[in-house]
Amino acid sequence: MTEKREEWGTRIGLVLAMAGNAVGLGNFLRFPVQATQNGGGAFMIPYFCALIFLAVPLMWCEWAMGRLGGEKGHGATPGIFAMLWKHPIAKYLGILGMFLPFGVTVYYCYLESWCLAFSWFSLTGRYHEVTEVAKMKDFLHSYQGLNTSFFGGLGTAYCFFLLTMTANVYILYKGIQGGIEKLANWGMPILFVFASLLVLRVLTLGAPDPSLPDNNVINGLGFIWNPDFSQLGNAKVWLAAAGQIFFTTSVGFGAIQTYASYLKRKDDVVVTGLSTTMTNEFVEVVLGGSLAIPIAFAFFGRDMMLDIANGGSFNLGFAAMPVVFQKLPLGAIQGFMWFSLLFIAGITSSVALLQPVVAFFKDELRWSHGKAVAVTGGICFVAAHVPILGLKAGALDEIDFWVGTFGVALFALLETIIFVWIYKPENAWREIQDGAQVRAPGFFLFVLKYITPVYIGALLIAWTWQQGPAVLRMEGVSAADAAWRWGARGLLVSIFAAMCYWVHQAKDRIEEAK
Ligand code: ALA
Repeated sequence: MTEKREEWGTRIGLVLAMAGNAVGLGNFLRFPVQATQNGGGAFMIPYFCALIFLAVPLMWCEWAMGRLGGEKGHGATPGIFAMLWKHPIAKYLGILGMFLPFGVTVYYCYLESWCLAFSWFSLTGRYHEVTEVAKMKDFLHSYQGLNTSFFGGLGTAYCFFLLTMTANVYILYKGIQGGIEKLANWGMPILFVFASLLVLRVLTLGAPDPSLPDNNVINGLGFIWNPDFSQLGNAKVWLAAAGQIFFTTSVGFGAIQTYASYLKRKDDVVVTGLSTTMTNEFVEVVLGGSLAIPIAFAFFGRDMMLDIANGGSFNLGFAAMPVVFQKLPLGAIQGFMWFSLLFIAGITSSVALLQPVVAFFKDELRWSHGKAVAVTGGICFVAAHVPILGLKAGALDEIDFWVGTFGVALFALLETIIFVWIYKPENAWREIQDGAQVRAPGFFLFVLKYITPVYIGALLIAWTWQQGPAVLRMEGVSAADAAWRWGARGLLVSIFAAMCYWVHQAKDRIEEAK
């Protein structure tokens, strides 16, 4: 007799877990930098277009596909695609939906561990004497093992990474209700409270230095939101906005299908899917947009803030923010709140990104829960050494580009074609509407059939055209760094090959359970 598949315990638990899946480091670190670098308020026009024409319809598809797969015992896309398209290749195409989320965790868990470490450092005063951004960057680099000015080597970072991996594995081991749902039930409210308190603090800051009245929070908000419409003609801005929407909503990875496979048939997809997407948008645009940039603007002024933001998301989050908090009363507590909210955002996403592989091992290879979790966590742990040790050489960026940017758009196109066109538009639409508390407007069927695939196809072509040759040839990368970057590519290929092997092993079971 087959064991009963797990299910979500409560509706609120499901909503919080799905919101936790989407709300991540992307909302607080990636979004403000992307908006700043791509036309400020004007960025929001391609951003909202991508939300409406890509994220919302794809979110419904992914929820519906997942619920359908779960009914037949398939929690990962190899099995789900095989149900939707009765062709032997379908299950192999579905590998992307476990490979991409897993590939992201290879570096994401490491980033998450920095947040845990810095929340600890805030509380214990570890960076207490570091009161300038340049010095704080040095502190961060030293933590990352790139210099020895504050830490003797990678030891501390490695310990926090071990702790983070252990926490991820523990939550996955406790299962859907006992681990992931519980984490979301506790973590998400804490995240909302911490983020809201910090936003309130930022909005009441005014101009921290009375001798520089222009450096104030309102001007900081104006800086993010005042549109620079001249940027709208630039394809790069449209690409960046779509990339941000994919990353932040977790659409196009394969992770949403797995969470949705634990739904019950009668569960609604339309309203719940939309509400979790909108929760993510609220956290990103309202909370994420009101924190790092306005505060850095108020304390450092426009030029320096731009300089920090252009140096990357990490400089803003890990170098500018801790310096600012030290200038404020109760700064240690606020620093702790900032980094722990990042950690919560991170871990609720990383368990979601690891779960597709766990589900595959259990559903298709019939492994025990413990073995599935141990092997998933073990491979992630080993693979993470490439971005950890090759950080300076850009191994992390290399992995992020292939899985977090390019791969996601490719998979989104693939799933749209399979679910909407091969499975047939009327079947896909019926699946989405089944059990809906409020029916999705018919306009979205048109969007799904034509606009979404053309939109993603155009993005992929533009991306390949603009960045493809330079990325492929590693232009401007030194020979030593290129070796690490090739190592990162080799790692991704090896993970993909292992997944092909497992799917091949499971092919009879996948075919049988269609
Ligand atoms: N959606 C997750 C994030 O925004 C991956 O970080």
